[in-house]
Amino acid sequence: MTRTVYVNGEYLPEAEAKVSIFDRGFLFADGVYEVTSVLGGKLIDFAGHAKRLQRSLNELEIANPVTEDALLEIHRELVRLNGIEDGLIYLQITRGAADRDFVYPKDATPTIVLFTQAKPGLADSPLAKTGMKVISIEDQRWGRRDIKTVQLLYPSMGKMMAKAAGADDAWMVEDGHVTEGTSNNAYIVKGNAIITRHLGNEILHGITRAAVLRFAREAQMVVEERPFTVDEAKAADEAFITSASAFVMPVVVMDGQPIGTGQPGNVTARLREIYLDEMRKAAV
Ligand code: PDD
Repeated sequence: MTRTVYVNGEYLPEAEAKVSIFDRGFLFADGVYEVTSVLGGKLIDFAGHAKRLQRSLNELEIANPVTEDALLEIHRELVRLNGIEDGLIYLQITRGAADRDFVYPKDATPTIVLFTQAKPGLADSPLAKTGMKVISIEDQRWGRRDIKTVQLLYPSMGKMMAKAAGADDAWMVEDGHVTEGTSNNAYIVKGNAIITRHLGNEILHGITRAAVLRFAREAQMVVEERPFTVDEAKAADEAFITSASAFVMPVVVMDGQPIGTGQPGNVTARLREIYLDEMRKAAV
C-alpha cells in the first residue's frame, strides 16, 4: 500500500507530494515540527502537541495555517487512510517559499506537511525490557532548544556518535550538566527522587515529560527539576528518557558504566506503566 501524505490541503500518494526548492524549511531550517504517537489507532496527547506547536510558531512569528480542530481532523484522516494501528504522525510547518533572504518574507504562505510512520508494537519495544546504553557528548546545539525547529543536524550527529560507540543514544552535556538526549528528555532516579533538568531555553519542553512528571507527583513520588551532572547520572539508582515515540524508556549504561544494577529499574517501569495506561485511556 502506498502511503498517503498531507501537503497544503491535499491528501496525496507520497510520490506526488511536492514542496518548492525555495521553501525556507529547506533553505534555512525555518520550520517547526511535532511527532505524535498513535496507539490502537488513537492519538496520544494530541492537545499537548497542538499547544507546543502553537508556541513554537509564535516564537518564530510563523502564522499557523490550520486551526487545532482542523489539525486533529487531518491527523485522524491520515491514521484512517494509512490504516495505522501503532505508529507516529510527523507534522511540519515552515514559513513557506520565498526568494532567498535572511529577512523573514512578508508574503510567504506557510507550508504544512504531515505523514505517518507505521510502527507495529510501538509500546512493546524490546528496549523497554533491556534498557538503553547512552554516551555523554558535548551539547553543541543552538540556544533556543525550547523551540521545536527542524534544525536537527547536531542531534543526528550525536546519534551517529552513539552508534559508533556501540550505544543507543547520546546525552548532551553543557557546563558539566546533562541537558537532554538527542531526541528525548533525560532523567535520573536517586533515593526516592526523580531528577530532571528544569525547563528553560536549554531543552525542549517535552510533552511526555509534562505528563510523566504530573503522574509521578500524583503517585506521591518526589520530583526535583534541576540540572544534574554526568557523575550524578553514573552514580544514580536508575535512569530513563521520555519522548512521544519512546514513552518512558530505561537507560542502564552511561559511557560504558552500568547505572544502578545495570538493569531497568522499578521506578522507571512503574512510570512507563502509568504513562501508557493513562495516555491510552485519554487517547483521541
Ligand atoms: N523528539 N528533547 C528533544 C531534543 C526532542 O527532540 C524530543 C522529541 C524530546 C521529547 O519531547 P516529547 O516528549 O514532546 O516527544 C525532548 C521527537 C520525538 C522526534 O524528534 O522524533
